[in-house]
Amino acid sequence: MKLAQVLFSQGFGARRECEGLIVSGHVALGGEVVDDPFIDVEPEGLIFSVRGEAWTYHEKALLVMNKPRGHECSQKPKHHPSVYSLLPAPLRRRDVQSVGRLDEDTTGLLLFTDDGALIHRLTSPKRHVPKVYEVGCKHPVSAEQVERLLAGVKLVDDPATVRAANAEATGERPDGLHGLRLTLTDGKYHQVKRMLAAVSNRVEALHRSAFGAFVLPANLAPGQWRWLSPDDARAVADQKLC
Ligand code: URA
Repeated sequence: MKLAQVLFSQGFGARRECEGLIVSGHVALGGEVVDDPFIDVEPEGLIFSVRGEAWTYHEKALLVMNKPRGHECSQKPKHHPSVYSLLPAPLRRRDVQSVGRLDEDTTGLLLFTDDGALIHRLTSPKRHVPKVYEVGCKHPVSAEQVERLLAGVKLVDDPATVRAANAEATGERPDGLHGLRLTLTDGKYHQVKRMLAAVSNRVEALHRSAFGAFVLPANLAPGQWRWLSPDDARAVADQKLC
């Protein structure tokens, strides 16, 4: 693949802009500036730098963010900054999209990709990909509430019954809230909050810790993101319960 085409495919601008970056000496391979936009390179595994910042070629982008509170999963946020503002410009230009959405006040595991087919597979209701949530509840979580969440509850304005694939009270948390670990295989709007409301409890804090068999990396601080390795990517698509 031509070097300019590599940059174009990775979100560094229009073809002409990518050629310009190379001709003006802003692109290096193996530490050496390369100023010919049309040299052939093997893209797979290619590490290149643009204005001193190192990038690895990814045919498709797949990344994970530890979503911080106070950010909306929308390209056009209404009340808070967008999660997309936390991504570097080339990824935004590649048009990565979040895989589903988390509420503004929810934290934790949020995937992004520019692979439309993958988004469809991971969000399709038919696939039942399990998502694990750590819920901070206002009231103690009773055994009866856990049983009802597992048996299925009706949400306001929705005739279908929704049930948790797994639910486990985890006791009082350091923040004084009452812990519940909930695994859901569908993704209805505000589902965790509405399910807890249906059993007369209330969500005060919500964090997603796993998606499929992929667990949010412990060393990823709120607001940070990183690429997924091929093993991580397999775990995302793996539908075994975590
Ligand atoms: N359920 C909710 O209520 N909110 C989220 O952000 C995710 C799941």
